[in-house]
Amino acid sequence: MPDSSISKFFEKSRKERLDIIANFANLSNDELDLLQIENGGISYNQADKMIENAIGTFSLPLGIATNFKINGKDYLVPMVIEEPSVIAAASKGAKIARIKGGFKVLADKSYSIGQIQLLDVTDIPLAIKKINNSSDEILQLANSKSNTLSKMGKGAKEISCKEVNAPSGKMLIVELLIDVGDAMGANVTNTMCESVSPLIETIVGGRSLLRILSNYSTRRITKAMATFEKEAVGGKIVVDNIVSAFEFADNDVYRAVTHNKGIMNGTIAVANALGQDSRAIEAAANAYAAKTGRYRSLSKWSKDDAGNLVGTLEIPLSIGIVGGIANVHPIAKICTKILGVSSAQELACVITATGLAQNYSAIKALATEGIQKGHMRLHARNLAAAAGATPEQIDKIVQKMIEEKKITLDGARELLEQI
Ligand code: MEV
Repeated sequence: MPDSSISKFFEKSRKERLDIIANFANLSNDELDLLQIENGGISYNQADKMIENAIGTFSLPLGIATNFKINGKDYLVPMVIEEPSVIAAASKGAKIARIKGGFKVLADKSYSIGQIQLLDVTDIPLAIKKINNSSDEILQLANSKSNTLSKMGKGAKEISCKEVNAPSGKMLIVELLIDVGDAMGANVTNTMCESVSPLIETIVGGRSLLRILSNYSTRRITKAMATFEKEAVGGKIVVDNIVSAFEFADNDVYRAVTHNKGIMNGTIAVANALGQDSRAIEAAANAYAAKTGRYRSLSKWSKDDAGNLVGTLEIPLSIGIVGGIANVHPIAKICTKILGVSSAQELACVITATGLAQNYSAIKALATEGIQKGHMRLHARNLAAAAGATPEQIDKIVQKMIEEKKITLDGARELLEQI
């Protein structure tokens, strides 16, 4: 079984890294060539077909987080992000989690929620009864819009109704619950909502207005858990301090937003690499953070009986591995292959575990030496590498740059010459 705990991956050359990835994920020569094309994978012509008024493309760094073991399987995790330290932090978090077996993650089935807004309904309780009585007919019509889902035994499964009180009066909201399988499912959800709204109007009277999916995907929750061994974390005091850091986030919205932003550093970087709709993920995560009526930490940190640190992260995730740009963008396709996920649920597990690993490393740094020291060390390391230092020279140069507080490319070049 492939092993994702690759020692000193960050010190390897690009070629060595690519060889490791190619070997791990069975990449073809064509796929390796594509990864090395400097425009980030899509041509202007492809971009022009994706969006309106296209004038070019915009690349971001793609890196690989190592050490991930999730539900017993090893993963090399592609991450697209412009921020330094994030990939190192995710890899470090995964390395510590690995000692106690890695991440245990459970993902719900992929149920999407579609909403139909009905106005001018005179008797809402009666309308709800009528909709419930006609639910088979409505579901059948919805399902006639997707042969693919129907053939797989998926598709629209349930209908529910709720009343929303607005300043202009009461409105009836009908919700479709749709098993979208391995797709993100936005298109099929919108299509189904639009297709059933005339039928719903004839059943209850009134007028339908909005017909659209809800991005608050509370029927697609993923929950990750990992134990971080006490000594590897830094001992009892560090464990206690990390729990205090969590309590700060869980009880103060100003800290909670930053804490959750750190989680998003992990989740969104993986989502970006695999061509997911990151806005949908963030919008849902933020609403979920406020589900108790107060915006809180998305993760929870505590100690087990042996004093080890235990972290959990629960987030809604509407993501997919079929349809959307995940199947169009050549680099997103290769990233899916590197990750080796075969279902949307498996991808949800990886995204959530990466968010938890990232959160661990951020609060561990904050609760110990502070965030800047590690940042500067990494920055120095990148500069030393950019100056042309070999892996053997890098540590020496980094140490000197930090001692001399001269962390610049010129400084790295000078030190390299001296060596
Ligand atoms: C920086 O991108 C993320 C952190 O601010 C997260 C946190 O404060 O927990 C380090």
